[in-house]
Amino acid sequence: MNNPITNLIIHSTVQGNYLSTSRFDMHFFHNYGIDKILSVIYNTALEYFPCITGFKLSKECNSMKIIGISGSPRKGNTEWMINKLLEVAEQNGAEVEVLLLRKMDVQMCRGCLACEEGGRQRKGICRIKDDMNTVYPKLLAADAIVLATPGYFEMLSGLLKNFLDRTVAIWPRLEGKKIAGLAVAEEGTGQAIQNFKTYASLCKMQWVGSVTVLAKTPNEVARNKTIEQRLKRLAQKLVPNDDSGN
Ligand SMILES: Cc1cc2nc3c(=O)[nH]c(=O)nc-3n(C[C@H](O)[C@H](O)[C@H](O)COP(=O)(O)O)c2cc1C
Repeated sequence: MNNPITNLIIHSTVQGNYLSTSRFDMHFFHNYGIDKILSVIYNTALEYFPCITGFKLSKECNSMKIIGISGSPRKGNTEWMINKLLEVAEQNGAEVEVLLLRKMDVQMCRGCLACEEGGRQRKGICRIKDDMNTVYPKLLAADAIVLATPGYFEMLSGLLKNFLDRTVAIWPRLEGKKIAGLAVAEEGTGQAIQNFKTYASLCKMQWVGSVTVLAKTPNEVARNKTIEQRLKRLAQKLVPNDDSGN
């Protein structure tokens, strides 16, 4: 029982059906200097049991997993949109999780490219020890990723760009996953959705669609008459619900 790996698994399981490296766990392992071992174990688990990593255990282990990334530094329109979209996706049977970058410790990519070891099958090991350590397995386990951003100078926000840069540790393994985009700005979202499409194309991901809207003050977006309907349509493209009764 003193084996730290056994302890991690017991701790994670007891804490509510998650097999995730909480920050407590990561620091615990760093003290042993075996964070690399942890990452390898984590990726092995992902390979053999894709349903367990980062998401609540699904009974049937076959529901679609969608991860949403909110790139606004405030609790505002972007967050409202991603929550609304994933709420509908969840009603359609998907397992969903929203990551609020404003609450996370995601440092800037240092450009060392040490993460490229292993080539296209790179393990998702970044030298920076922050919240991305727990995000990589979630992205790899997801069937679809939704990027949501406020329009900043008609581009995606710095918070979200920084996040995308850090995916250099896994990007070749995102190939084939679905991806969609949300953007909100006061007068025009400009290139923000095109920024997402460029990322999707480089990663060979499947572009599903986008919703853009104009709003300035926090939650102003909720007053837009068409927004809920448009988000619902995008959710249906992400998770087609079976109305046939079969
Ligand atoms: C740094 C910064 C740059 C912005 N640039 C633009 C812009 O180029 N065009 C625009 O229409 N709105 C711009 N805005 C306004 C925001 O896009 C708008 O307030 C949006 O609703 C913010 O989304 P949020 O509530 O999710 O944070 C900018 C806001 C900030 C803080």
